[in-house]
Amino acid sequence: MSVLSGKNIILGVTAGIAAYKTTFLVRILIKKGAKVKVVMTPASKDFVTPLTLSTLSKNEVYSSFTKEDDEDAQWTNHVELALWADLIIIAPATANTMSKMTNGTCDNLLLAVYLSAKCPVYYAPAMDLDMYKHPSTLKSFEKLNEFGNIQIPAAYGELASGLEGQGRMAEPEDIVSLVEKDILDSLPFKNKHILITAGPTYEAIDPVRFIGNHSSGKMGYAIAEVAASLGAQVTLISGPVNLRIKNEAINLIDVTTASEMFEATHRYFKNCDIAILSAAVADFTPNKVALQKIKKKEETLTITLNKTKDILASLGEIKSNKYLVGFALETQNELENAKTKLKKKNLDLIVLNSLNDKGAGFKSDTNKITLISKDNKIVPFNVKPKKEVANDILQHIIKEIHV
Ligand code: CTP
Repeated sequence: MSVLSGKNIILGVTAGIAAYKTTFLVRILIKKGAKVKVVMTPASKDFVTPLTLSTLSKNEVYSSFTKEDDEDAQWTNHVELALWADLIIIAPATANTMSKMTNGTCDNLLLAVYLSAKCPVYYAPAMDLDMYKHPSTLKSFEKLNEFGNIQIPAAYGELASGLEGQGRMAEPEDIVSLVEKDILDSLPFKNKHILITAGPTYEAIDPVRFIGNHSSGKMGYAIAEVAASLGAQVTLISGPVNLRIKNEAINLIDVTTASEMFEATHRYFKNCDIAILSAAVADFTPNKVALQKIKKKEETLTITLNKTKDILASLGEIKSNKYLVGFALETQNELENAKTKLKKKNLDLIVLNSLNDKGAGFKSDTNKITLISKDNKIVPFNVKPKKEVANDILQHIIKEIHV
């Protein structure tokens, strides 16, 4: 899955012949799963039509401060547009537009959106070779880059003038690759391997029955998805759940029993930087599994259970400099019990959820957590969707390990 999937992108089109290539650019961005809104300078409409770009982007195309065909002359909210964007790509960026961007000139909608933006801005210059080399253009590049904009250099080749040199707008595929690489490079968990356990475990009694619990796995799966979107290489060790992984980059290892989860977790722990154990592992397992289905001959049935190995505690014993996170689901003396677990299992962080809190717990789509760090820092959160809770946990870890 591309890092651009789900991203809101504004494509700014200015008046250069390369504007015709933005039709391909929009198509690639849409295929990558991005949402695209196109903002055109008025003159760029001579090179590519708003109808083409709105059809391809599946969105209205914006080019003026007010809608021309609107009797009440409703204004186009450039601030709202700018804040909607996760990133802006200005392609092609003409010498004229770049010069205006360096000076804060604001005589068209695209420039107003640019000046209002808080997100990263990429620009792909396109012009004739001598214009490209002109000291004023070089000055524009320097200024724009100094402002934090990211340049996508023009390519070498045949130009509209018939001359050959540097000035052709980078090809749409190359623009997208460069933006993807830049985003990947800036993700906080780049080069980090995160190991996550999720879901329940099933402990067989006989060939048809097992001891399990109500864990849905939703919390662990949400952590895996958010960690992957923040650039981590994720291994997710999952008990039996009815969930699917959306990000194909996540390495999913299916297990059933506590002992299988123990083996798998230890296998992957060696190479991880951070381990987050959210699984609801069975604490006891039948000491023997009946080979045939147990018949209901007797009035009572006694099954002897043996304690399972505590995966989290066993990792705490060998963790060295890895960052280890556990979960605590408590019903009473929540804070005290969680703090004791944090210490006993040698954790860096424990995520406390109380069954007494509304909106917290196993099957729900929301959770309410309190984070407790090794240094006794306690951070409570409100009830939130599990994806946001996952983000809160991961952002906390980012702060603690200074990645
Ligand atoms: N855990 C584990 N292996 C087990 C049991 C628990 O890795 N065999 C992990 C869970 O994934 C969770 C944490 O330990 O991160 C807390 O588990 P919990 O069941 O709340 O606590 P226990 O230590 O088992 O203590 P108790 O059941 O007595 O509250």
